[in-house]
Amino acid sequence: IPVTAFDLVVFGAAGDLSLRKLIPALFHRWRDNQIPAESKIVGVSRTAMDDDAFRKLAIESFRKFHPDEIIDDSEWAAFASQLYYAELDAVKEGGEGWARLKDLLSGGEDKQRVFYLALAPGLYGAVSANIDAAGLKSPGARIVLEKPIGTDLQSAHAINEAVGAVFEEESIFRIDHYLGKETVQNLIVLRFMNSLFEPVWNANAIDHIEITVAESIGAGGRASYYDKAGALRDMVQNHLLQLLCLVAMEPPLDLSPDTLRDEKIKVLRALRPITKDNARQTTVRGQYGKGAADSEVAPGYAEELGAESTTETFVAIKANIDNWRWKGMPIYLRTGKRMKDRRSEIIIQFKEVAHALINDGGPLPPTRMVIRLQPDEGVRLLLVTKDPGPGGMRLRYVPLNLSYADAFKARYPDAYERLLMAVVRGDLALFMRRDEVEAAWRWVDGILEAWEADGTPAYAYAAGTEGPAQAAMMLDRDGREWFEGV
Ligand code: BG6
Repeated sequence: IPVTAFDLVVFGAAGDLSLRKLIPALFHRWRDNQIPAESKIVGVSRTAMDDDAFRKLAIESFRKFHPDEIIDDSEWAAFASQLYYAELDAVKEGGEGWARLKDLLSGGEDKQRVFYLALAPGLYGAVSANIDAAGLKSPGARIVLEKPIGTDLQSAHAINEAVGAVFEEESIFRIDHYLGKETVQNLIVLRFMNSLFEPVWNANAIDHIEITVAESIGAGGRASYYDKAGALRDMVQNHLLQLLCLVAMEPPLDLSPDTLRDEKIKVLRALRPITKDNARQTTVRGQYGKGAADSEVAPGYAEELGAESTTETFVAIKANIDNWRWKGMPIYLRTGKRMKDRRSEIIIQFKEVAHALINDGGPLPPTRMVIRLQPDEGVRLLLVTKDPGPGGMRLRYVPLNLSYADAFKARYPDAYERLLMAVVRGDLALFMRRDEVEAAWRWVDGILEAWEADGTPAYAYAAGTEGPAQAAMMLDRDGREWFEGV
């Protein structure tokens, strides 16, 4: 779809998200001719810089974060001529910086205007008000908010109120970048555009579901934010719950934003509350200690932070969705930093066959569907197969393999590319609605309160492993194991 000219203002432009993800994403879309020449991309932050210094910082960061990409200088110069910079403290109303920003945007009132807040969530309300006070809110202007929205339900509610006082809900784009990933979008297609799966997509046919988002990186570089957040707020409240919604929701009538979001919120509302009476059985907190990463000795979290901390860098949860489709069937969630590999996947483990024709004494492997979100994107259906050759009926697990790398040769755009262009086009389907964010916090708050009341410890795990033993024990109590691959 062609894009008409727009202006995009990035607050927090000198920060990690902007330099690592946003500017590179915009460059890629510029290269694909989706950023018309009359569009301006304006970086804003407190750092003293002029346009040229910002352009230089942007290309240096691009080369640092994307070392394999070749950009020649003239190509960059053409893109960079659309980059501008305004130095200002966005939480302070008025002043020279705002005047410069206004100047940069003047004459563009009829263009789509987007404000991207790559800032700490606590600032969203004040910055929205200051955008308005500076007279920058052109008709139909949109605002983009990064996750996490707040640190609990109360703070999320306050942020939503404050931003909502300036921008209409239809103009607020709350990002969860997992929704922009190719493989996450494919969940909807896989489930609802193939007639094979829907009839067995329920607790009658499925034994359990696992959602694992494992990272091999540590939290070190972002410790000041991370130590206040922890894995539950940083990953579960948003990314894992969004994945859970897409896997578990009822078929939507269509893909329009509200239809889709109405279905997702029903899943969040049906999540069985975790309370202090059941948190010990249904959750595990962990924190990495010294271990190995990429065959090197890796320091523990406390050492990286430079202080003792009780923040969890790993969490495992046994979730239950109390509705007709999923009654009685657990969905296990797990995420952590400094785990063995970077691996995000969803496992659908089907029930054992009703009656085994062959039984050589060992457990029969169940049929499993492994939806690999990243890396090595693909879907594998692990089937029990007869091992060919003599020796009787020997069974083996063999995958029916759909590998993205083999099936599609195209470059997969980074999630932020798609999401930024979706904001410009006004497509809210890939963004979280206010009530959705708050419903997710309501469930997460229950866990936070239970941990607080119970003094739940963060069990140690060595960097480079699958997390604390307690996470394995949680499934063991149910007679199950995390699926670590075949
Ligand atoms: C972010 C979290 O939202 O997602 C980070 O704040 C995490 O802690 C990141 O590393 C993971 O994203 P991806 O796209 O690398 O899986």
